Amino acid sequence: MLKNRKITVAVTGGIAAYKACEVVRGLVKLGADVRVAMTENATRFVGPVTFEALSGHPVATSEWEHTPEGAMPHIELNLHADLLLVVPATANILAKAARGIADDLVSALILAHRSKVAFVPAMNRHMWANPATQRNVADLKRDGAHFIGPDSGFQACGDVGEGRMTEPADILDLLPGLFSEKPLSGRRVLMTVGPTYEPIDDVRGITNRSSGRQGFALARAARDLGADVTVVAGPVTVKRPAGVRIVPVTTAREMLGAVEGELDRTPYDLFIGVAAVADWRVADRLEGKWKKDAGLPQLRLVENPDILAAVGHRAGGPVTIGFAAEATDLLENAYAKLEKKGAAMIVANVARDALASDTNRVLVVTDGEVDEIGPADKDEVARKILYHAVDLLEEDYGPEDDL
Ligand code: CTP
Repeated sequence: MLKNRKITVAVTGGIAAYKACEVVRGLVKLGADVRVAMTENATRFVGPVTFEALSGHPVATSEWEHTPEGAMPHIELNLHADLLLVVPATANILAKAARGIADDLVSALILAHRSKVAFVPAMNRHMWANPATQRNVADLKRDGAHFIGPDSGFQACGDVGEGRMTEPADILDLLPGLFSEKPLSGRRVLMTVGPTYEPIDDVRGITNRSSGRQGFALARAARDLGADVTVVAGPVTVKRPAGVRIVPVTTAREMLGAVEGELDRTPYDLFIGVAAVADWRVADRLEGKWKKDAGLPQLRLVENPDILAAVGHRAGGPVTIGFAAEATDLLENAYAKLEKKGAAMIVANVARDALASDTNRVLVVTDGEVDEIGPADKDEVARKILYHAVDLLEEDYGPEDDL
């Protein structure tokens, strides 16, 4: 989504300016075409030459220097941009932007912006909590500006609280959403992702092979399409998506408990069961660590609850989508699961192809039709699956239901 996007990064003077280097590097790596402008104060924290090396272009620091952008950088840099990203954004730049003050290059750039503008605030927690800053943020949002963060945590000044800049990796994760349409806006999506782990004793257990990659790709895609996303996640190994609520669990029974708890508390529109739930657990979990000298443990397995089926058959429950990882007979098994699990849609794939891979090929099976997606990278597959979900939701709550 960021490939070939034209992005102007405006860096203002806060200690978090060094993290903007990582943002610029990440954007370039993702194929974006990046230009950088800096305030004079920002240049006290990081030298322009660093951004010049990272972006591959000269850095604009003043209205009065002719750059390759031309004699009026505040206009030229905006002409260049699909997005103006202010990172880090100090309390001062937010105040100037909210009031339309343009007394240096970056503030003039913001006033003259004609594309999307996004602020990534970074400041001391008292400055962030100050009603003046909160007023400015509210005004800027009302005027259509986007905000990423701030997060809570340790601050450079030694304080702990809200105002810390969102980590570069999370900024890069959230940016594609700014370019996405929002057909899931106002929708709540609940998902299960990753494997479950069923302990045998304190150190051994039964689990399934699942990194959580396809599940988190779906969570990101749902978030980018405008949904409010909650993920009940087993022990996953991949980076968690930003801007998504994660409820961590370990066992299948914990996963079911967390899912039912969510559904009891909140009306969800859509449930997507992506988790590779362990089908069995040990009936009598052993205490401590079973020693080999004690002989072979006699394990009795019992079946775990079927989370997808529980949600699919729930009265008044959400529209339900399941996955089916199969070794053979993809379509036949998908139809059987559609029925058995009370799902509106089953996404079927060949287990061997999807595991620990960046790409996937799936069949999307509903009552009426079968659609093939891929082979494509998991983000692309996720987006296409969600467009099918949008259709299902529209059928479920479509205009005819309003008549
Ligand atoms: N699923 C679930 N709870 C379980 C087992 C599976 O919620 N205890 C969900 C998975 O998240 C997936 C779908 O059911 O969305 C199908 O999972 P799969 O492992 O393919 O099928 P199973 O029902 O386990 O049947 P089988 O292993 O016999 O194919």
